[in-house]
Amino acid sequence: MKVLGIETSCDETAAAVVCAGREVCSNVVLTQVAQHRPFGGVVPEIACRAHLEALPGVIDMALEEAGSTWDDIDAIAVTSGPGLASSLLIGVSAAKGLARSLNKPLLPVNHLEGHVYSVFLDSDVSVADASPLLMLLVTGGHTCLILVEALGVYRLLASTCDDAAGEALDKGAKLMGLGYPGGPEVELAAKGGNPGAIDFPRGFKHHEKDALGFSFSGLKTSLRYYLENHPDLLSQGGLPDLAASYQEAVIDALVMQLERALRQHEVRTFACVGGVARNQRLRQRLDALSVKTGLPLMLTSLPYCTDNAAMIAAIAGARPHEPAGMELDVKPSWSL
Ligand code: KG4
Ligand code: ZN
Repeated sequence: MKVLGIETSCDETAAAVVCAGREVCSNVVLTQVAQHRPFGGVVPEIACRAHLEALPGVIDMALEEAGSTWDDIDAIAVTSGPGLASSLLIGVSAAKGLARSLNKPLLPVNHLEGHVYSVFLDSDVSVADASPLLMLLVTGGHTCLILVEALGVYRLLASTCDDAAGEALDKGAKLMGLGYPGGPEVELAAKGGNPGAIDFPRGFKHHEKDALGFSFSGLKTSLRYYLENHPDLLSQGGLPDLAASYQEAVIDALVMQLERALRQHEVRTFACVGGVARNQRLRQRLDALSVKTGLPLMLTSLPYCTDNAAMIAAIAGARPHEPAGMELDVKPSWSL
């Protein structure tokens, strides 16, 4: 089955063609970062207008790069949630129009399931071979631990009480005077810095030994106080140590909880997906955890960590999805 995927849940306008739930024939992502950067975060009104303008061209490019015509496409998959309602609406409306006019099935996909499945793109390992699999999903909107028992069988073990890890990096970057999105900016600023220079709090470290969860709002507050108490730090070259220490606090909290969950659940593999999984320091720390536990680690390939439509088309082709009718609505808070 050859699926055209459409993704517009946040600030990337994306379309892709994927065959047999795995083989990526094209993956076009147009980021809106430049449009949102002056505001230091995603502005929903700007995002949906930009999707509206860009999506037709992005879909054409995805078909062209795949060497496909509309006749070759068997189904139209679209992210229908979770995400920004006004952004989701653009992708869903486009998908409905295409499905109707071409008389092809319309397959609504959960964005989080797309991220979960992203780790199997470019990989020879199947979900069945890897499961049970413990997955750390870290994006700008979500941070959770998921037990993947089989394709489509997911158990949410823990999620964040407040900010997501990506959000903590984005907000922290803003406080440090860095640009948007904050994750890659903090990673860059942290180069050459000492991650142990400042002892920022690690969320959930002191909860009962078995408790699983994440909390990043205290870390962000702690950074704000630290900057207030050290007003000359940034002008005196303190940024690398500050960024490295802040990044380490986020990563430590993630790795600590993952390790705790691995002690509680017998799994075959563990994995990390989502935009924050692009972070090289996090990838190193996960490699080290794999050596320590003796468990194989799966990491999403870099192009599929941040939002993309390949993961949406892929999961729609990999697991049977109930086709939707023209009444399909967006689900901004759809959980996995
Ligand atoms: O998965 P994603 O593209 O969108 C959501 O579904 O939210 O993730 C975006 C998040 C942002 O918070 C961004 O700062 C973070 O991923 N991110 C990174 C890196 N690249 C993107 N965080 C840390 N290091 C990176 N290299
Ligand atoms: Zn995402």
